[in-house]
Amino acid sequence: MSARINPSILSADFVNLQADLERIASADLVHVDVMDNHFVPNLTFGPQMVGRIQDVSPVPLDVHLMISDVDRWAPGYAELGAYSVTFHAEATGDPVALARRLRSIGARAGIAVKPGTPIEPYLELLPEFDQVLVMTVEPGFGGQSFMPETMPKLQALSAEVARTGLDVWLQVDGGISADTIGIAAAAGADTFVAGSAVYSGSDPASNIALLRAAAEA
Ligand code: DX5
Ligand code: ZN
Repeated sequence: MSARINPSILSADFVNLQADLERIASADLVHVDVMDNHFVPNLTFGPQMVGRIQDVSPVPLDVHLMISDVDRWAPGYAELGAYSVTFHAEATGDPVALARRLRSIGARAGIAVKPGTPIEPYLELLPEFDQVLVMTVEPGFGGQSFMPETMPKLQALSAEVARTGLDVWLQVDGGISADTIGIAAAAGADTFVAGSAVYSGSDPASNIALLRAAAEA
């Protein structure tokens, strides 16, 4: 398996963002956490800022929307050219319609579930999605501890992906480090978001290489 490593710029220096984007040029995608202080108790940036990040980023954007009213806002992120747009299952009544809209604009469509949200209702919707994000912490903040109790969801997803032969990426986000990434990989994850583990210390590129090696071990 080739592990995809998507650094989260939530842990980057927001006033030196362009430099911090260039330091992760060896990543697969850059994970952009959009928060609205409503769906989660934290606030980051909106479409205008994400558009500028898109202009200067050396790698394509993996946008994670932790916002309410995704039906209104998500298509705009696809229109500005994000490679993937992931919305939370808890934030829309019609995930299939929204996924189809994102795909029609040209983005990969992703659905995310919080730790307390079961995955079973979404298994039959897998053909509508390009990726599923299993949150391995409560969304809202970087630097939290990995929740191993979310792993059965990945096992269920990877069994369904194997059964159907669909090409759906299985992503984990929260508390991913060299110590925990192997647990998520063993449960079936192939795409790993890491914020503090990439940006801690002075060398994000070697942190990325370390994570990739640990995931593939
Ligand atoms: C949390 C965000 C994550 C966060 C991960 O709500 O979705 O992407 O940046 O940060 P770490 O890797 O530090 O747990
Ligand atoms: Zn995220």
